[in-house]
Amino acid sequence: MLDSDALRGRLVTRSPAILLPLIALVLLTATFDAKGTDRKVQVSDFGKTANGISVYRYTLTNDRGVEAAVISYGATLVSLKVPDRDGKIADVVLGYDTLDGYEQGASYFGGSIGRYGNRIAGGQFTLDGKVFQIPTNDGPNSLHGGTIGFNKRIWTAVDRSRSDADVLELSYTSPDEEEGYPGTLKVKVTYTLPAESNELRIDYMATTDKDTVLNLTNHSYFNLTGDASQTILDHQLTLHALKFTPVDSTLIPTGEERAVQGTPFDFTKPTAIGARINQDDEQLKFGKGYDHNWVLEKTDKVGLQPAAEVFDPTSGRVLEILTTEPGIQFYSGNFLDGTAKGKGGQLYAYRTGLALETQHFPDSPNHPKFPSTVLKPRQIYRSTTVLRFSTRK
Ligand code: BGC
Repeated sequence: MLDSDALRGRLVTRSPAILLPLIALVLLTATFDAKGTDRKVQVSDFGKTANGISVYRYTLTNDRGVEAAVISYGATLVSLKVPDRDGKIADVVLGYDTLDGYEQGASYFGGSIGRYGNRIAGGQFTLDGKVFQIPTNDGPNSLHGGTIGFNKRIWTAVDRSRSDADVLELSYTSPDEEEGYPGTLKVKVTYTLPAESNELRIDYMATTDKDTVLNLTNHSYFNLTGDASQTILDHQLTLHALKFTPVDSTLIPTGEERAVQGTPFDFTKPTAIGARINQDDEQLKFGKGYDHNWVLEKTDKVGLQPAAEVFDPTSGRVLEILTTEPGIQFYSGNFLDGTAKGKGGQLYAYRTGLALETQHFPDSPNHPKFPSTVLKPRQIYRSTTVLRFSTRK
């Protein structure tokens, strides 16, 4: 067998003429590569809000059949198409066909959540000795940023695509005291889909001009079967966490970090979501299923760490989630009740989607022992989460 050096040697020494077409081929390939630098996010109209503001849909594609679509309303991930084990592509996130669905909806499908992901007890916290009251929209508590969170704001999008990835950057400036939160907050969410790998990266960046609290996340609901008429109860979940934060009956953490071992909250090994979800367990009753924050195990390495893995045995799709965040909220779609009319007219029923929200812990501003969510002027908030897709037999 000829190795490539030998082959090159033979070509050079024996027939220089053959080099010309070869050189032409190399040049052509180079031109094709250079064309790759023209990667572009596709833009289309996504209608107008009730107030008449135009909203756009941005489609990121890669060279392996993955497609992610994001709208400027809520910097929302509205569609994520990935292959199954036979190469069949399907959309694995819940959402609506029209803008109206996102405006009226209360389920946060695919939305960028802020300023504060998950709950703040009584909508109240103290910062620098001052008490802040934010709107309560979930019983006695504030959920996902208050009445009009970042998922219901209009973001400005810029195509930052590179030769190796489609990149969409969305920005929003939240004025001082919006929803009661202190400080003018400038926030960016960037979606990156590499040309050659099936992973969607979400980077968050923010700055403030006053001390404030911040906890950003994405609220996609996954159903890896690609068929949201099926539940997610047979999906097998792994969470890289030895502890979770138990809650009270209003889903506010008690402050305890409890070992998962020996409880239905132990997902240290791949386990079907439905295997223990109906057990007689107080925490499961409070959440009407899983609706809790897990404390992620960290290795010595800084940066992105594995947080979760979901495997759907029917399609073979695998979703791995990596994050820089210390926690993950696993919500098993317990409040879906068949009233939300989703894509293709599908009514999203009980537990037909699951959310895995990488985040700081709920209600951290009221729990000094939890990792801090305070952001100060001159600090830069950064957070990254990667959704990595593959398949398995
Ligand atoms: C919360 C749930 C809530 C859901 C959507 C999750 O992050 O923990 O309690 O119902 O978001 O609204």
